[in-house]
Amino acid sequence: MSERLLHVIGSPRGERSRSVKVAERLIEGLVAASPGASVETLNVCSAQLPALTGPVIEGRYALIEGREVADEVRAAWAQIGEAVAHFLSFDTIVFSVPMWNFGIPWQLKQYIDTITQPGMAFRVSETGVEGLGAGKRAILVASGALDIRAGTPGGELDHQVRFMQAWLGFIGITDVHVVHLRPTYGPPEAVEAAMAEAYASAEALVSDLSRASRV
Ligand SMILES: Cc1cc2nc3c(=O)[nH]c(=O)nc-3n(C[C@H](O)[C@H](O)[C@H](O)COP(=O)(O)O)c2cc1C
Repeated sequence: MSERLLHVIGSPRGERSRSVKVAERLIEGLVAASPGASVETLNVCSAQLPALTGPVIEGRYALIEGREVADEVRAAWAQIGEAVAHFLSFDTIVFSVPMWNFGIPWQLKQYIDTITQPGMAFRVSETGVEGLGAGKRAILVASGALDIRAGTPGGELDHQVRFMQAWLGFIGITDVHVVHLRPTYGPPEAVEAAMAEAYASAEALVSDLSRASRV
């Protein structure tokens, strides 16, 4: 079956988003290396995601126990189930993810909170947690005004890449690659150098992955 690729856009900056520019170039390379691959884009900043309100959260238990729930609660859970199934239907997920206050934008967090549902994205059994996303690949294009990537001074403030890696691992996705795009603030030469480094590392990742898939 041909490769299915999802681009999850976590920046609300549209065409001005630097992480999206790099992710789009990366995706072009992945598609060129995998004939027949299909690409879908999900912009979590404009998507109509179901809100996890109090009644919706309580309704989950009521539905599991076969109790009556309000129509809108039933509809919200149907929509959540579809969102999880949609996410899990892809082989590769590329995230454009800016750092916001050391973490990730709230719109992306809302998407993650929506789809990380027990029994849908992971299962808990006597042997521990089983992530239902096992076997998939994720690529993070991680941007930030400051260069505080892990392992550099200030890297302890990183709750962006480390959070994404921890969450992906929790749902079973351990084949995770990171393209750093930082710093995106400062003298124009520094920002252009960061863009060039990110494009080059995206290109190198595409050739590594396509070489590995031919072995
Ligand atoms: C609300 C907000 C909070 C931000 N917080 C941080 C931060 O904590 N650390 C950082 O390095 N950059 C921070 N930035 C800057 C963005 O990460 C940076 O501009 C990035 O390149 C945006 O990526 P994009 O162009 O794909 O949207 C913040 C930007 C916004 C809008």
